[in-house]
Amino acid sequence: MQDDIMTLRVVRRDIQTNEIAVIDLAAESGADLPAFEAGAHIDIHLDEGLVRQYSLSNPPGERHRYRLGVLLDPASRGGSKAVHERLHEGVQVKVGVPRNLFPLDGSAPHSLLVGGGIGITPMIAMAYELRDAGRSFELHYCCRGRDKAAFIDELESAFGDALVMHFDDEEAAQRLDIKALLGAQPADTHLYVCGPTGFMDWVIGAAGQAEWPHSRVHSEYFSAEVDTSGAAFEVEAVASGVTVQVEEGMSIAQALRAAGVKVNVSCEEGVCGTCICEVLEGTPDHRDHFLSEEEKEDNDQIAVCCSRAKSARLVIDL
Ligand code: FES
Repeated sequence: MQDDIMTLRVVRRDIQTNEIAVIDLAAESGADLPAFEAGAHIDIHLDEGLVRQYSLSNPPGERHRYRLGVLLDPASRGGSKAVHERLHEGVQVKVGVPRNLFPLDGSAPHSLLVGGGIGITPMIAMAYELRDAGRSFELHYCCRGRDKAAFIDELESAFGDALVMHFDDEEAAQRLDIKALLGAQPADTHLYVCGPTGFMDWVIGAAGQAEWPHSRVHSEYFSAEVDTSGAAFEVEAVASGVTVQVEEGMSIAQALRAAGVKVNVSCEEGVCGTCICEVLEGTPDHRDHFLSEEEKEDNDQIAVCCSRAKSARLVIDL
């Protein structure tokens, strides 16, 4: 292991529903892997400059493997396509140690887990952790159809009645009625949601309308549209001694990179947190899905891969 990057091997690969690669990674030597908690993800280094985050979906107590589920996205910018094309059994891959930006709240009397499509992956690890700790939870898995739902056999046998499936193409009565579901929850339930952006916005919006506090709504975006519209502004990267103009249609990170400043980025979609910088002056226009609402209100951090400025000038610690 070098620093926090490991070289692991694909020890098992199973294509489910024709479009989801379920991949087990293990150490070459068979040694234990660094432990992880439910909600954690790993960075997969697919190529120079191509690093993608994938949630771990196996039981968090396991140390012999990391299990991923990767949907082949037709609109892939390279990540899921590279996983499907290259990560066959026996192939080595560089992997970061697990990081958890989506942890369970240990104080919740009940946890409502809602996964849409491939967003089920972190929910599976959460359900295992809650089940094994004897804590109250329910797992809702929403899919376009039964033929698009990976992991079904595993989920049914692991979680029994705690699992509720919802298919878009089956009878209306079994489709997710998010308003009714939220309304039926015990007091102080915590909601966890992951899935496509539109699905998450729908669930989180319903929780907002039902006046669930932010502190009980937890989410993780896999990917998001980046909106770089809006007026140009100036950014001073103090530590680098560089000032750039960020035009409409470009990100702060792109403008700084063009001026020779090294900017650490990974997802470039505002979901992973790699590019977060401290704001020393000015007001950010937050467009990421990583910072919490409270953090955004503080206006002292910015995701430079996607967010912009409400003020004419921003000064950042980079
Ligand atoms: Fe992932 Fe900016 S690079 S949030």
